[in-house]
Amino acid sequence: MLERKAPFFRHIIELVPCWLAACVLSGCDPTETEPSPAPVYAADWATSYTEVRDCRRSGDHDLNYVRILAAPDALGPYQTRDAAFPDGAVVLKLEFADPACTDRSGLTAMRREAGFDATHGDWHWQRLDQDEKVFEDGKLERCVGCHASCGVAPDGHDWTCAVP
Ligand code: HEC
Repeated sequence: MLERKAPFFRHIIELVPCWLAACVLSGCDPTETEPSPAPVYAADWATSYTEVRDCRRSGDHDLNYVRILAAPDALGPYQTRDAAFPDGAVVLKLEFADPACTDRSGLTAMRREAGFDATHGDWHWQRLDQDEKVFEDGKLERCVGCHASCGVAPDGHDWTCAVP
C-alpha cells in the first residue's frame, strides 16, 4: 500500500519548488490567488489619449454617463470613420455615476489584436472597476453580442458603437 502511494508523495514534494517559484514571481500575496490581467490600454492614458466623445448619457442601459477616449493610433479611424482601426488600436470608455462625469464607477476597453478573434473583428475586451482592476477579460460574449449590431454604419464604425 505504502509503496503504491510513495511515487505520489514524491511527485508532490518535487512540485514544492515550483509552487515556491510561482509564489515569489507573483509577489506571494495570499489575498490575490489569481492575479488580474493587465489593462489592454496604456498606463499614461490620462495624458496620452484624446477625448473623442465628451460626457454624455450612455446608450447601453447598464451604465449612466460615459466619456470615450482614443489612443493615438485609434484617433483617426474613430473620428473620421473611413478606415479600419489598426492592430494595437485602443478605445477606452470611462463610466460615471453622475451627469457631470466626476464620480467614476468603472471602465471598459477594447484593443484590436490581429489574430485574437478573427470572427469578431479581432477585438480584445476588458471591464475594469473604478480602481482600474480588470475583472472581465478576453473574447467576452456579452460585449461582442452588442457591439456586433451597434458597431456598424451609419451609427457605429468597425465594432465601435458611439454615435458622433
Ligand atoms: C447592451 C449593449 C452593449 C454591451 C453589452 C456592451 N456595450 Fe460597449 N457600447 C455600447 C454602446 C451603445 C456604446 C456607445 C457609447 C455609450 O452609449 O455608452 C458602447 C461603447 C463602448 C466603448 C467605446 C467605443 C465605442 O464607441 O464603441 C467601449 C470601449 C466599449 N463599449 C466596451 C465594451 C465592453 C468591454 C463590453 C463588455 C464588457 C461592452 N462594451 C458591452 C453598447 C454595449
